Amino acid sequence: MKIAVLGYGTIGSGVVEVINTNAGSIAKRSGETVEVKYVLDLRDFFGDPVQDILVHDYSVIAEDDEIGVVVETMGGTKPAYDFVKTALLKGKSVCTSNKELVAAHGAELIQIAAEKKVNFFFEASVGGGIPIIRPINQCITADEIEEINGILNGTTNFILTKMSEQGLDFADVLKEAQELGYAEKDPTADVEGYDACRKIAILTSLAYGKQVDYEDIYTEGITKITAEDFTYAKKVNSAIKIFGTSKKVGDHVYAMVAPRMVGSDHPLYSVNGVFNGISVTGNMLGDVMFYGAGAGKLPTASAVAADVVAAVKHQGEHVPITWSKDKLEITPVDEMENRFFVRVGESEKSKIAEQFGGVEMIDAGIAGECGFITSPLQEKTFAEKAKQFTTLITRIRVQS
Ligand code: HSE
Repeated sequence: MKIAVLGYGTIGSGVVEVINTNAGSIAKRSGETVEVKYVLDLRDFFGDPVQDILVHDYSVIAEDDEIGVVVETMGGTKPAYDFVKTALLKGKSVCTSNKELVAAHGAELIQIAAEKKVNFFFEASVGGGIPIIRPINQCITADEIEEINGILNGTTNFILTKMSEQGLDFADVLKEAQELGYAEKDPTADVEGYDACRKIAILTSLAYGKQVDYEDIYTEGITKITAEDFTYAKKVNSAIKIFGTSKKVGDHVYAMVAPRMVGSDHPLYSVNGVFNGISVTGNMLGDVMFYGAGAGKLPTASAVAADVVAAVKHQGEHVPITWSKDKLEITPVDEMENRFFVRVGESEKSKIAEQFGGVEMIDAGIAGECGFITSPLQEKTFAEKAKQFTTLITRIRVQS
């Protein structure tokens, strides 16, 4: 099997490395040898052996009938979407790590792959090296999925873990993370939750078999989390994590990305540093958890290369993925129930019981303010009550 890799960045070069390093076992598992015939990139890589197979023009790959599998590791949707669609229409399978592409066009690309009897695989698009797409699509198939909670972004988990361990504020840890190469120069997609939003959109689409538009998912990042919030969290044996969540309640599907206070008895409490963890709850299965390296060159490339093995094994046969183009209506987050951790100025202490009834007060020893946890409330009810406080400092949802 001859394959082509689009994009020779961190992940693309990792895929070439995995395929070369593990050529023997990959051949055994695929049923034939797998050879990278082309790498597409705008740049040159003089001195790197890849230079010999480098092309700058995608049509060389698209027009070559010998290429049976295209690996797309360029990121973004332009030109990745056109390249991937062209490959599928020409009868080539595609394996991608690109969550933007999958979240925006997954259903359409799966449909084209089905029509052409090829495959569109995207294991690496969520959770990096953690198997999660195939388990949802092929293993947890006898359950109604009731809930998914995921720490889906390594950068923000690294930042929150450091803040917790060192008592530092967000801005200081972000700077350190950028210096260490864990956060990008422009960290917006990670710290504002947009990356996790694409990933929970993909998981929710797979869990319920319909297209979830990521624009419909309420998304809140971690930029407002402070060292003081962690002081409170520790008083109640909790961590603060950013979760991608989707939850089915009756006929309603809720989805959101937001920071959460997570108790030490929760399976995701101990997922620290750059690691990711995803907990899936099925109505028969109960909870199952997936944990591992959610980002990074070789872990992510390992998942892409495993998709290549699957694509080679299933030549001439489409492996169905339950994700139709029909839109899944996400219930407005206003109606979702959560408990909330709240900080208000001490001057408004008397209003707490008035607005929220019985609450769990937390004494973190911080002068001039009060912290407490409410009972479960609808988001809109909480928002109304919170408006009554002129000294509201923050509010963070509390994971049940
Ligand atoms: N920026 C992402 C993260 C990379 O930090 O998890 C993997 O998608």
